[in-house]
Amino acid sequence: METKIIKLNIHKPDPQKIDFAAKILRSGGLVAFPTETVYGLGANALDAQAVRKIFKAKKRPLDNPMIVHIAEVEEVKKLTLEVPEKASKLMKKFWPGPLTLVLRKSKIVPDEVTANLPTVAIRMPSHPVARALLKRANIPIAAPSANLAGKPSTTSQEHVIDDLKGKVDLILASGKTDIGLESTVIDLTSKTPILLRPGGVTLEELKEILGKVKVHPIVKAEKKFGGEVKSPGMKYRHYAPNARVIVVEGEGKKVQKKIQELANHYKKMGEKVGILTTNKKNNYSANITTFLGNTPEKIAHNLFEILREMDKQKVDTIIAEGVETKKLGLAIMNRLKKAASEVIKA
Ligand code: TXA
Ligand code: MG
Repeated sequence: METKIIKLNIHKPDPQKIDFAAKILRSGGLVAFPTETVYGLGANALDAQAVRKIFKAKKRPLDNPMIVHIAEVEEVKKLTLEVPEKASKLMKKFWPGPLTLVLRKSKIVPDEVTANLPTVAIRMPSHPVARALLKRANIPIAAPSANLAGKPSTTSQEHVIDDLKGKVDLILASGKTDIGLESTVIDLTSKTPILLRPGGVTLEELKEILGKVKVHPIVKAEKKFGGEVKSPGMKYRHYAPNARVIVVEGEGKKVQKKIQELANHYKKMGEKVGILTTNKKNNYSANITTFLGNTPEKIAHNLFEILREMDKQKVDTIIAEGVETKKLGLAIMNRLKKAASEVIKA
């Protein structure tokens, strides 16, 4: 399939180009587009056949449900059976933005979107291109992250092109995404809301509005596989580069010592070793040492791109410093641990 690639100005997306993309979506095609979190691969959420094409293009397991993106709050009513007060409060505070709400679904949502679950995940993105596209298409758009299944999510057009060129109708390109990690997912269908995936809206911020919030064990990646699978997408190893990823947690100096030991070990075995650090001034010796950033925001913004870059450099083993799990740090550690085959305490 031929994939068209159209560049768009983030702040002033050309209405004609948006119109072209909206028409493709309305006629059952696939369009990759930027959001403030990561790029999404969109299809008409009310068209089961269009949604099936997403699974095919991404090689996504059929039992992994997708997020439905909307432009107006009123659309939530059509997609759900009920809108609890807690949901309304969250929408008011955090939409448009990086928060996805899981609610009980209405009949109009095809089972393909929700992988046969009785619930649907909904989000209103804030990215100007995503908003313009949603408004123009005037349909809810089902969109998982625009990466091949099992790969890190895409945070720039180059990543989308690498993964999906030839597999989708159109890629809307407007540079790097802002946040760099996927949205926060919260389940509002039980009495106490459950955080299913940490992201741009932090647990601390959610608690301010909701009071009590349960944190699903998967968030801390304590149970990688198995356990109660509340969100089917949880059971897959995600965000994984080709390289082996090891995360080292603990106190600063001990972490650095352990990482260097591990790096020496794998180098001795003839491997190419990459270290990910949050200290600009460090004394690591490895094939590649990459500075992730010195604030959680910068680390989140850079992480997936750096993981992809390590693959391009054919690194065999990536060893990463853990970060504090406060605020956005919880999401960063969640993604690092999901990419990792080993988490070591120094
Ligand atoms: O930031 C984002 O959320 C991006 C952009 C494109 O919006 N999208 C994204 O989609 O990350 P995806 O498909 O890669 O991740 C969706 C997550 C998965 O973990 C999935 O299992 C969960 O949301 N999910 C979707 N529907 C669900 C449902 N009904 N119940 C529980 N979890 C659900
Ligand atoms: Mg994804």
